Amino acid sequence: MKRLFILLLATALACSGPAPKTQDPLPMSSEKKNDPHSFAQTEIAQVVHLDWDALIDFEQKVIDATATWTLSEGSSGEVIFDTYDLDIIDVTDGNGKPRTYTVGEKNALFGSPLIIQLAEGDKKVAISYRTSPDAKALQWTDTEQTADKLGPFLYTQSQAILARTWVPCQDGPGIRFTYDATVQVPPGMLALMSASNPSEVSNDGAYTYSMPQPIPSYLLALSAGHLAFKEVGARTGVYAEPSMVDTCAWEFADMEAMMVAAEELYGPYEWGRYDLIVLPPSFPFGGMENPRLTFATPTILAGDRSLVALVAHELAHSWSGNLVTNSVWDDFWLNEGFTVYFEMRIMEAVYGREYSEMLALLSHTELLNTVEEFMESMPDDTRLKLDLKGRNPDDGVTAIPYDKGYHFLRLMEETIGRERFDAFLKNYFQANRFKVMDTERFVALLKTDLLTEEEYSSIGVDNWIYAPGLPANVPVPNSDRFEKVDGYALAFLNETKLPENEVTETWSTHEWLRFLRRIKGADVNALAQLDAAYSLTQSGNAELAAQWFENTLSEKEAYRAPYDMDLEASVTDFLTRVGRRKFLMPIYSALLEGDKLEWAQSIYEKARPGYHAVSRESLDELLLASD
Ligand code: BES
Ligand code: ZN
Repeated sequence: MKRLFILLLATALACSGPAPKTQDPLPMSSEKKNDPHSFAQTEIAQVVHLDWDALIDFEQKVIDATATWTLSEGSSGEVIFDTYDLDIIDVTDGNGKPRTYTVGEKNALFGSPLIIQLAEGDKKVAISYRTSPDAKALQWTDTEQTADKLGPFLYTQSQAILARTWVPCQDGPGIRFTYDATVQVPPGMLALMSASNPSEVSNDGAYTYSMPQPIPSYLLALSAGHLAFKEVGARTGVYAEPSMVDTCAWEFADMEAMMVAAEELYGPYEWGRYDLIVLPPSFPFGGMENPRLTFATPTILAGDRSLVALVAHELAHSWSGNLVTNSVWDDFWLNEGFTVYFEMRIMEAVYGREYSEMLALLSHTELLNTVEEFMESMPDDTRLKLDLKGRNPDDGVTAIPYDKGYHFLRLMEETIGRERFDAFLKNYFQANRFKVMDTERFVALLKTDLLTEEEYSSIGVDNWIYAPGLPANVPVPNSDRFEKVDGYALAFLNETKLPENEVTETWSTHEWLRFLRRIKGADVNALAQLDAAYSLTQSGNAELAAQWFENTLSEKEAYRAPYDMDLEASVTDFLTRVGRRKFLMPIYSALLEGDKLEWAQSIYEKARPGYHAVSRESLDELLLASD
């Protein structure tokens, strides 16, 4: 999402992907499209259902499990799964009869194919295995890193291609399956999945789950710890550590209203309940749209409900992404661009246009910055339709699919009017539910179902999707509230005039963010005055604190004591507590920019073991690259 991803992309390892596959013998259906990030050959054998039995071992930090996969009609010969550092113990036909298998050579990005020979008539394969203590999807959190210190905590992060590090699976977004699971955790813990979930702790630590709607592997999710549940609305609730659950329920009180707004816009919610779990602060993302149970960072607990757009975003994925899924990661904008668009519409419906236009303008600025930066060194990554073959799909997680995608959809809305656009989208979600979508089919739909030839060419659809850069007809969100903020930012930059208390009292987090982004590069003495007036160094709002750290740490000029020490303590505390990559990357980069490499590395050394692999990988590249 961040401009700074350029640093990662520039150093990304060129790596050969899974071997090319034989030509698809079936008529072109996008379900059968080759996925360059998976070893699976679904034209030979494809999964349709998973029964997963697992024992979670917190002491050894491993999962011992059996994955019993049901295969689709017509599967024969061999079935190929993706695995990454899984210790395969034994493979059978599901009835105890052994089957031969081989584990192919390991590729650093994609892992190893597990190739199982099927006997005539085999409908299932059962794979017993143990995960590696270093499994990239799994974050084993020590008791100290939790809020209540009642015990350790485990959560997974499967997107994009990490499900294979904890379940042998056909790990591409174009392959869907239903699942049932049983999970054993130490008694006293609650374990939750992206499925039907318990709301109470069981006596024996055993739990069962079912996900009757077909999902792709990147939506497999598990989390276990000392958790409590609190209802928010009739179909909504929050899971969190016991001391936080009331605060969480308050912060997310609008979940039900968001669901009502979402259904009103684009049709029924297809997944039953919608709950949210607040994870320990090491969670590497803001949110993850695991079906029925969004995983969220505690850094959105601002105390004033000002960061709940993230809930709208993850909820929106219940349609864009989870219901209609990008076919391969090159089509990632179909997941994220649609979701940002839908998020803005939910926010507008619940909080009003004035509010959602602030969010839209933040997205706009992010987009302009990213395009400008990427155009110099990697213009191809500014295309909506990406080319991630042989690369880590994580390289595609930038502002382009999110914010360029959003602006493209907004341009269509503005060109043809909301009524037509909404009718199209509602039908799109209905007609393609539980299916995959790729960019080419979407373009075809625009031609047949939505746009006239004139509209198609005046929007410049092909240019938007396939060309690098940003077309001149990009919509510009309009926010009077931000215009006012910009005036205060100028006065601060030019005359060190602080915005008055009466003014800032009415500011939301978003106005503060706009202000801080506009005053980047301000004189250090002016920054010190601002901090004296508004205690930004001590801000409990993670978005504001992170932006403030980014602004101040990038200054090369030394700070004055005792200000320095406060800042140092706050930054150190933040970076050792919070593992959200969106914050870590800009803060560590600011430290480098401000000639504070040693400081950055000494914090990183301490904090690194507490970060999830996703954040560690990005930071390793950033900090090693600057050595
Ligand atoms: N699905 C993404 C997170 C993701 C993307 C994980 C790609 C791994 C690979 C999620 O919906 C998301 O976009 N999260 C954002 C929040 C959002 C409000 C833009 C985040 O985590 O910052
Ligand atoms: Zn998203």
